[in-house]
Amino acid sequence: MHRSITILFVSLFVCVGAVALSVFASQETEPAEAAFMGQKKCTKCHIKQYKAWKGSLHAKAFEALDARYHHDAACVKCHTTGFGAGGFTTAAESGHLVGVQCEQCHGAGSGHIALMAQLKKDKVDKKDYPEHKKIVLTPNNCAACHKPHTAHPEVEKK
Ligand code: HEC
Ligand code: HEC
Ligand code: HEC
Ligand code: HEC
Repeated sequence: MHRSITILFVSLFVCVGAVALSVFASQETEPAEAAFMGQKKCTKCHIKQYKAWKGSLHAKAFEALDARYHHDAACVKCHTTGFGAGGFTTAAESGHLVGVQCEQCHGAGSGHIALMAQLKKDKVDKKDYPEHKKIVLTPNNCAACHKPHTAHPEVEKK
């Protein structure tokens, strides 16, 4: 039992190390911990959250932009996922990251996905592995885009 957990930890360590190295090799300027995967990678395990998200305006935030703003950093920073943080760059390069997706709120998900897939493969009970919830839910990040005191001045006047 203890032995298999040790093996799991070692293999996870190697796994995360490999991901980190490959990310590091491809994008030397970005932090190496995790990469943005795009919502399609989350859907198979989180279908309920996917359905709720798909029906929301967050899913359509890029389409809401007129095409002439698609390359404008002043707009895409709030209408895409991970812009300026190793995620969205342009629609041609990173079409899988348009709109305000899961990882904009929860953090880049490559590490979480690798861990969850590994636990499932090794048939580890989640209860024996509380660390399974490891993914960032950036606290209070709504206000990074929804600016209550500038976006709705007419409400402020009352
Ligand atoms: C291989 C399956 C799998 C994939 C792919 C996956 N997850 Fe998860 N995720 C899980 C499991 C299992 C849990 C734990 C659920 C539980 O505690 O019952 C979880 C938990 C979470 C939680 C809750 C953490 C908490 O503190 O309660 C969030 C948020 C989350 N995942 C987001 C994502 C995002 C975003 C993606 C895509 C980048 C993703 N997941 C991809 C399996 C997966
Ligand atoms: C600070 C973050 C932020 C920036 C920067 C930003 N937006 Fe938005 N945008 C939002 C949010 C949040 C909403 C939805 C809520 C709202 O309307 O305040 C929105 C909604 C929209 C909508 C749909 C709602 C409507 O009014 O029709 C359009 C279109 C839009 N933005 C265009 C743009 C354009 C064009 C730019 C660049 C000039 C831009 N946005 C820059 C955050 C931002
Ligand atoms: C606009 C930000 C935002 C987006 C986009 C978003 N989430 Fe969340 N998510 C949250 C917040 C905040 C919570 C915690 C509060 C709650 O439960 O609603 C949460 C909770 C969760 C949980 C924990 C279980 C639950 O339902 O409470 C999972 C799993 C999850 N999200 C997965 C996803 C996936 C997968 C996507 C994309 C398909 C996604 N989220 C998109 C903000 C977001
Ligand atoms: C990356 C920027 C960003 C972040 C972070 C963000 N939003 Fe949004 N949100 C938007 C944009 C842009 C729209 C409007 C999209 C459109 O109109 O097409 C929007 C729309 C909405 C709407 C209207 C959705 C609908 O379907 O009617 C709600 C409600 C909302 N956001 C709540 C939240 C909450 C709560 C959080 C934090 C958990 C959050 N947002 C985080 C950018 C963001």
